[in-house]
Amino acid sequence: MAAIIDKIRVADSFSKAAGTYDKAAALQQDVGEQLLEWLDPSICATGRILDLGCGTGYFSRHLTDIYPHRDLICLDIAQGMLQHARSTRGLSGAHWLCADAEALPLAENSVAQLYSSLAIQWCSSLTQLFKELARVLNSGGSAVISSLGPSSLFELRESWADVDQNVHVNKFVALEEVLAALPVNLQVERQRREIRVLEYNKLSEITSELKNIGAHNMNVGENKGLTGRARVGKFKSNYESFRQKNGKLPATYEVYYLLLRKK
Ligand SMILES: C[S@@+](CC[C@H](N)C(=O)[O-])C[C@H]1O[C@@H](n2cnc3c(N)ncnc32)[C@H](O)[C@@H]1O
Repeated sequence: MAAIIDKIRVADSFSKAAGTYDKAAALQQDVGEQLLEWLDPSICATGRILDLGCGTGYFSRHLTDIYPHRDLICLDIAQGMLQHARSTRGLSGAHWLCADAEALPLAENSVAQLYSSLAIQWCSSLTQLFKELARVLNSGGSAVISSLGPSSLFELRESWADVDQNVHVNKFVALEEVLAALPVNLQVERQRREIRVLEYNKLSEITSELKNIGAHNMNVGENKGLTGRARVGKFKSNYESFRQKNGKLPATYEVYYLLLRKK
């Protein structure tokens, strides 16, 4: 079955994870920090700064430090994330918007700098997403984006593969496919792809971390019934086959970074 993202579940799952997210999000913090380095602090295009898929607002705070004289919009599809961010980050000047990145409630040519870390992998149509980004960005404005590629969590996907036919792990899109979805007026200035392997002692550490950041599988077609004991047992023993010589269980992430410029 094709991977269709259920956005109500995305919003619900991230909302529920708002209180646990920051403590479980070491990878997300590291990736987001690298992405901050791609920002141009002296951007001359006029307009606002947009944190797209801002989550708990961890990077929204950094954005106000980098662009102290610009209006900041913090946008997320999960109301619970926004409430948490608003009450904990103390960003009194920020504008908070609960909206879908694929249907932005923003005027055209109103954004100078867009920052989006590890959010666009939850979108349904990259063509629609980029059309929206190109519409709201000002001429000369730029977007820095990080996202996940198809090797991400391959151990989890392969461990389920011979257990049942259900979709247990999100389907992530290859960088080439992402680039192919760009409109002509959004040009790639910089791109990078990296593989990160996180290490754990137990499988439950991996699954609870995913739960705590709200990143459950949200493709339509996910297993709806209770997972039988035998199937879970088979899944666990399959994952054990990935245990490394150092005794650790790996979880691989394929991360890519993009710097786009509106022409
Ligand atoms: C993994 S979190 C990343 C949060 C933050 N950028 C960070 O790096 O800590 C992904 C965020 O994207 C949001 N998100 C997912 N799909 C979205 C969409 N279609 N439009 C807006 N936000 C979305 C989620 O609600 C969640 O808060």
